[in-house]
Amino acid sequence: MPETVNIGGVEILRTAALAPMASVADRAYRLMCREYGAAYVVSEMVSAKGICYSDRKTAALCTVTDEERPMAVQLFGSEPDFMAEAVKIVLEYRPDIIDINMGCPVPKVVNTGAGSALMRDIPLAARITEAAVKAAGDVPVTIKIRSGWDKEHICAVEMAKALEASGAAAVAVHGRTRDQFYSGTADRQVIADVVNAVSIPVIGNGDITDADSCMDMYRRTGCALAMIGRGSYGAPFIFREIAARLAGEDYSPPGVEERMRIMLRHISLMLELSDKPEHLAIHEARKHAAWYMNGYYGSAKFRGRCYQLSSYAEAEELAGEFITLQRARGAE
Ligand SMILES: Cc1cc2nc3c(=O)[nH]c(=O)nc-3n(C[C@H](O)[C@H](O)[C@H](O)COP(=O)(O)O)c2cc1C
Repeated sequence: MPETVNIGGVEILRTAALAPMASVADRAYRLMCREYGAAYVVSEMVSAKGICYSDRKTAALCTVTDEERPMAVQLFGSEPDFMAEAVKIVLEYRPDIIDINMGCPVPKVVNTGAGSALMRDIPLAARITEAAVKAAGDVPVTIKIRSGWDKEHICAVEMAKALEASGAAAVAVHGRTRDQFYSGTADRQVIADVVNAVSIPVIGNGDITDADSCMDMYRRTGCALAMIGRGSYGAPFIFREIAARLAGEDYSPPGVEERMRIMLRHISLMLELSDKPEHLAIHEARKHAAWYMNGYYGSAKFRGRCYQLSSYAEAEELAGEFITLQRARGAE
């Protein structure tokens, strides 16, 4: 039996989880990653206030389908009362876990006092957590943080301890400061420090791009679960690679034809799940198509063409041409 981690009563395989990613990890993306073995997925972040004012788009973001479970719905906000109210509304969607975003670096979120701004106000972060935990009842509440605000203010350990005391069932740590946004490399030592400081499970996140970097995350931090964001772009099969490594099984990455098949399936799922007509829904699929072509000969030109796609039929045609080019180059 593979190892599991228990987050507030929710059993999760100790392979790797998919990180929340707004405008990327939508339902189609999460389903693709689950299919390839992601142990746990998190929704795109949803505004606590937006839910309280019952924004329709926000409600769509909270929907949890059984195929995605175990799944968390992620909220962001800076006011304990709104957070508690939002948690109660989200519970109607029956998430397995409710996660709160205290790491988002973007000014639009930080300027409202939410996301990583909370790393500068740990007492408020604790009150938000307490309010969410109380409102959530039996459903575990987890928090996602960064290493700190900037390199002079690394506070992940202090923050994680305060969150644990406030009832958080787990904490996910992205080993970058707010100041870094997505640049530089993620610090694994700070994740290890948090692991040593708290007794709740710690989810380690940042710069996992393959099985080797995932094993490095487990080895160097002792985290309970690894979490992958950008490393899954155009590569939902990264979860299969990691599961195989942990199970000591052989793994060979999909060849170009298989990759293109996966890409087309991903696009068709996006189109199927979208409430927009194909010519508009395809816009959101363009970047995904481009990511599946990364790392191959001539891919820059093809990626440019992905950004022109206006239908599924065109995506099929482009995938065919891409395969022909790679075959001519002798790629598998
Ligand atoms: C496009 C994009 C959107 C993101 N959206 C969210 C979000 O909604 N909530 C959140 O907590 N983190 C969000 N993140 C941060 C990721 O969850 C993750 O912490 C970060 O990308 C580092 O992990 P990685 O190196 O594996 O990508 C986002 C990251 C990216 C690149």
